[in-house]
Amino acid sequence: MAADTDVVVVVDFGAQYAQLIARRVRQARVYSEIIRHDATAEEILSRRPKGIILSGGPASVYADWAPTVDPAIFAAGVPILGICYGAQLMTRQLGGTVARTGRGEYGRTPLTLGAPGAAASLFADWPAGGPIDVWMSHGDAVTVAPPGFVVAATTPDAPVAAMGDAERRLYAVQFHPEVVHTERGQSLIERFLFDVCGALPTWTHTNIIEHAVEQIRAQVGASRVLCALSGGVDSAVAAALVHRAVGDQLTCVFVDNGLMRAGEGEQVEETFRRQFHVDLVHVKAADRFFGVLEGVTDPEVKRKAIGETFIRIFEEVARDVDDARFLVQGTLYPDVIESGTADAANIKSHHNVGGLPEDMAFDLVEPLRLLFKDEVRAVGEELGLPEEIVWRQPFPGPGLAVRIVGEVTPERAAVLRAADVVVLDEVRRAGLYDQLWQSFAVLPAVRTVGVMGDGRTYAYPIVIRAVTSDDAMTADWARLPYDLVERISSRIINEVDGVNRVALDVTSKPPGTIEWE
Ligand code: XMP
Repeated sequence: MAADTDVVVVVDFGAQYAQLIARRVRQARVYSEIIRHDATAEEILSRRPKGIILSGGPASVYADWAPTVDPAIFAAGVPILGICYGAQLMTRQLGGTVARTGRGEYGRTPLTLGAPGAAASLFADWPAGGPIDVWMSHGDAVTVAPPGFVVAATTPDAPVAAMGDAERRLYAVQFHPEVVHTERGQSLIERFLFDVCGALPTWTHTNIIEHAVEQIRAQVGASRVLCALSGGVDSAVAAALVHRAVGDQLTCVFVDNGLMRAGEGEQVEETFRRQFHVDLVHVKAADRFFGVLEGVTDPEVKRKAIGETFIRIFEEVARDVDDARFLVQGTLYPDVIESGTADAANIKSHHNVGGLPEDMAFDLVEPLRLLFKDEVRAVGEELGLPEEIVWRQPFPGPGLAVRIVGEVTPERAAVLRAADVVVLDEVRRAGLYDQLWQSFAVLPAVRTVGVMGDGRTYAYPIVIRAVTSDDAMTADWARLPYDLVERISSRIINEVDGVNRVALDVTSKPPGTIEWE
């Protein structure tokens, strides 16, 4: 991080809460870092934070396994805001009372502000008194604030919904200001950052780019850098950043495996070769991929075959690029946070197109490793990447192959690609593209009987899959308007040869996954 950037540390007590808080802080243009709760006070303070936020979490402070934080942080003179679990932990560690009241609050809850007291600065933008809706999700509740704290707000079942000790600059709220359902939650976070911590809003997209460019230059010097482009937003932004930093020292490799969405290869050519004048190696390798996929029907075998073929091709190209020492990876901040803590079951072996061939002697350049997805998109826009790339829905590394159940052949890939064009086109026309996490077509391995014109048909169905999600960990099936489903269905039947039926996938994740394989 640049020396002149203020840092706010978010201590992570579990689940996704900390990431959302860190994003809200960055939305206020203050750089935030997430740190594990078991870090020592020394480690936390070594970041020289302007403020510390203790996140929510799924535990009860009474659980045996309840995570805690090194209490020395409370005496360090750094402003601290505890949220939900963080508020209860702060209460417990500073001598207040957290009780199992048996009256938890979940969801929208009316909050009443007390007389302007110690925590008034947090609520400066809120209407005096209230009630105002906040989002609650707690079982235990703070019943007695620690010595030195003044109660600033209450709700029907939380006698201490907000409290503060202005002298020590310690604050806590039982509700979640980071979720959109809390009216004026963002303004509470901003008052904490700017008024209490005195942080400066310098984490702007221009500064992010300048900082990344400086770091990339310092890291790679005059060496040659390779970057695998997938057509997706992360690798595109990473490449554009590295190009901004080291210009023609960068060589991009785009491997067309025959399993891309329609028009993706052309888009990469147009953007990187013609608009950015990047040295681009475009490998047309569809035949090779279809060759290794011949007869393969098992999803995991498919993924591995595609991943390995990609790596072999990449190695071949790399050998021809003189003395390339660095490889660009589009790793994002959530990956950095999660590696190290994640022990989730390996449900699908995700093949990352930029994936590092382990036996290759490259140093990694990861210009996005401090950024969340929304920041990556903003940086992409600022760098002049086209909207179609910056706002593109995620697409899996193995491409259409994991949407073709059964054997992947050039003919079946062509059927699916044509159907996918229709789904995306109609979703865009309906103005829903940006609201959906993903929307695409799936080709199952069955054929069904139909009747078209005077004849009997025996052809493939296409399944429409559209989901909403925040992070792909969970997803809900999208309630597409019926007239949109109708248009997609009739266009697919009329325009895509080999399809005589269209179905809609109405499965959430869990129990389904987003992709079919
Ligand atoms: P699932 O199907 O597991 O997908 O619910 C979650 C998200 O990950 C994407 N996905 C992949 N991305 N390589 C990737 O880079 C893969 O092998 C892969 N498999 C799934 C999927 O599109 C969704 O956004």
